[in-house]
Amino acid sequence: MSTKISFQNVNKTFDIAGQTSFAALKGLNLDIEDGEFITVVGPSGCGKSTAMNIAAGLIAPSSGQVLVDNVSVKGPGPERGVIFQQYALFPWLTVRQNVEFGLKVAGHAKAERRRIADHFIGLVGLSDFADSLPKTLSGGMKQRCAIARAYAVNPKILLMDEPFGALDALTRVQLQDQLLATWSKERRTVMFITHDVDEAVYLASRVVVMAARPGRLHRIIPVDLPYPRTEEMRLSREFSTLRNEVWRSVYHPAAA
Ligand SMILES: Nc1ncnc2c1ncn2[C@@H]1O[C@H](COP(=O)(O)OP(=O)(O)OP(=O)(O)O)[C@@H](O)[C@H]1O
Ligand SMILES: [Mg+2]
Repeated sequence: MSTKISFQNVNKTFDIAGQTSFAALKGLNLDIEDGEFITVVGPSGCGKSTAMNIAAGLIAPSSGQVLVDNVSVKGPGPERGVIFQQYALFPWLTVRQNVEFGLKVAGHAKAERRRIADHFIGLVGLSDFADSLPKTLSGGMKQRCAIARAYAVNPKILLMDEPFGALDALTRVQLQDQLLATWSKERRTVMFITHDVDEAVYLASRVVVMAARPGRLHRIIPVDLPYPRTEEMRLSREFSTLRNEVWRSVYHPAAA
C-alpha cells in the first residue's frame, strides 16, 4: 500500500492578541494509506479541525508539511472533498444547486449534473427538499446537503469534520453504513473526525487519538474488526473492548 496523506512534523501556532503564541498543533506525524479509513478523536481544542484544514489546504502550517500523493499541499484541490464541522452551504442556492455546484466546476453537462445530484440527494434523504433553500432546512438537513455535495464530485480523498454530529441517531447510523458501503466500493481515503467513540470504532481501520495543550498525536489504536462492519459487531465483546480503550485514551490519557 502507498501513503496517500502524510503529515510531516506539522506545527501550527496561533497568535493571540498579537503576542503570546498558542500551539494548536505540535509535531504531528501521521501517514494515512491509500484507501484507508481513519477516524480522529480527542478532547475539544486538541487540533483536530486544524489538522484537517491543513490537509485540505485551507490553512497553512507554521512549519512542517502535509503531502498528498507525495506532493506538498499548497491549497485546496478537487481530489480532496471537505465536509466542515459547520455546514457551509451557499445560502442563495437551493439544495440541488448546492449539490450541483462542484459538478459544474468540474465541467459536467447539465443533464448529467442533475442525474448525479439527484442520486446523492436521494442517498441522504433530501429528495423532497431538492428545491429548498438552506435557510428553510434544519441543522441536520443542511449537514446532509453538505454531505451530498461532497460525495457528488467523487473525490479520491474525503476529509470529514464531525459530519454526522448534528444528525439524529437513526440518520447517523444510516449514513455511517452508506459511507462504509461507498468507501469499500470506491476505495477512497477517508479522514473522519468525530466526538463519538462508538462511531470512531465502527468506521475506522485505525483510530487516531489526539491530546490537547499542546494539540498532538497521543495514540493510534488499530481496529482489527473485518469489513463489512455490521450492527451485530457493535454488540460484540471485541467492539466494547476497543470502545473502552479509545474512551480511556481520550479521557484519561495519562493512564492509557
Ligand atoms: N483561527 C484561530 N485563531 C486562534 N486560535 C485558533 C484558531 N483556530 C483554532 N484555534 C485554537 O486552536 C486550538 C485547536 O482548535 P481546533 O479547532 O483544531 O480544535 P478541535 O480539536 O477541532 O476542537 P473541537 O473538538 O472543539 O472541534 C483551539 O484551542 C483553538 O482555540
Ligand atoms: Mg473541530
